Amino acid sequence: MTPSDVKATLSFSDGSPSIDLPLYKGSIGPDVIDIRKLYGQTGKFTYDPGFLSTASCQSTITYIDGDKGELLYRGYPIEQLATQCDFLDTCYLLLYGELPNEQKQKDFHKLVSEHTMVHEQMQFFLRGFRRDAHPMAVLTGLVGALSAFYHDSTDINNPTHRNIAAIRLIAKMPTLVAMAYKYGEGQPYVYPRNKLSYAGNFMRMMFATPCEDYEPNEVLVRAMDRIFILHADHEQNASTSTVRLCGSSGTNPFAAIAAGVACLWGPAHGGANEAALNMLEDIQRNGGIEKIGEFIKQVKDKNSSVKLMGFGHRVYKNYDPRAKLMRETCYEVLGALGLENDPLFKLAMALEKIALEDEYFVARKLYPNVDFYSGIVQRAIGIPVSLFTAIFALARTVGWIAQLNEMIGDPEYKIGRPRQLFVGSERRDVPPLHQR
Ligand code: SDX
Repeated sequence: MTPSDVKATLSFSDGSPSIDLPLYKGSIGPDVIDIRKLYGQTGKFTYDPGFLSTASCQSTITYIDGDKGELLYRGYPIEQLATQCDFLDTCYLLLYGELPNEQKQKDFHKLVSEHTMVHEQMQFFLRGFRRDAHPMAVLTGLVGALSAFYHDSTDINNPTHRNIAAIRLIAKMPTLVAMAYKYGEGQPYVYPRNKLSYAGNFMRMMFATPCEDYEPNEVLVRAMDRIFILHADHEQNASTSTVRLCGSSGTNPFAAIAAGVACLWGPAHGGANEAALNMLEDIQRNGGIEKIGEFIKQVKDKNSSVKLMGFGHRVYKNYDPRAKLMRETCYEVLGALGLENDPLFKLAMALEKIALEDEYFVARKLYPNVDFYSGIVQRAIGIPVSLFTAIFALARTVGWIAQLNEMIGDPEYKIGRPRQLFVGSERRDVPPLHQR
């Protein structure tokens, strides 16, 4: 970051001494006011509970321009990566900062494919769950359990250890997600087949059975790979911030990623794709396109807790570029499957059209986000709704790891420890029981 020649001067109306705060410029995006010395100089904290105006770190990985609806991974537009690269190229880019050349691409693919199996003991963790456990509950447990196998071989401050942990997590997440799915289905696990592509291997682990050969449908594999690319990273979102804060204690990367999985599960975050599809199915069940007006009325009614899931975003105040690409993928997949007239897809597009013309949404700059269409594509591919967020976690693991490694690799990083505005009881003495 570059010091700006502009200073911020903070003055107080009660005559307390004003202070100058340095400003820093990034390569693109808003400048920041460095408040690290604020408490020391004024005895005051800043207050920003939802971090709406707070930069928690400096990063070189992902940049979002919310007004333009632009998303760059290491400077490359998501539209180009999603159409010209595959997910493992994107992983390499997020981890190491550049796209791989042919040799590096081959080496990286080979390295990842050599780590796709999980320890046989992992099956016994699954057996502790009910068969109808939510896949995100299972995945949170399984990713945390990886610590038990690698905790003593992961010195988070050793760059080589960090790199192997990254490869292990990227390679094993598809295996774990597929195991969580098979466990719920009551079907045997399918071991990875390393000659397949990353997405092809995942599809086979998900849908193959010992009873017959399985050939992944290349259109669906490509769609799956694109879904992974679109979900790979997204600057300092809630789950990435969770991973950074968790990792800042020096815990092992498997535990930090497990914390990210747990955070992503929430319906305001990664759980929105499952919620969005359930919302579409509810509208469909209650009358479909004719009932959209009634549903939109509920959403606008402050007394109802109804939200248009898959709409709105803390940063995008324009169309989420990932939603556009996901909608295109909907056309491709539904077309390839002869489902062009899929009623839910038609309902989603009608709902989007009506919302984008409604003053409530326009005034609040609420547009479709990545979760609005992703459920329709995943459902068409055969992914059960309850597994949507686990797929999101599978894809986001590389972003979490890249952001974690960037933080740990920064010699200036410290353990994250926010302060608070205390509004509770002042000091008081414990009364004897008979006086309480
Ligand atoms: C992801 O951070 C990331 O980058 C996340 C993510 C990633 O890749 O990591 O992009 C992935 O999580 C995408 C977002 C998925 N979540 C949803 O689709 C759930 C529905 N969306 C909302 O819950 C909401 O839009 C959030 C949580 C996404 C953003 O919330 P903010 O920024 O805190 O905005 P807000 O709740 O203050 O909303 C501003 C106004 C409010 O109305 P008023 O109080 O001003 O009258 O807009 C309204 C909100 O009520 N609003 C919605 C709405 N989203 C916001 N009203 C109806 N439907 C919605 N979806």
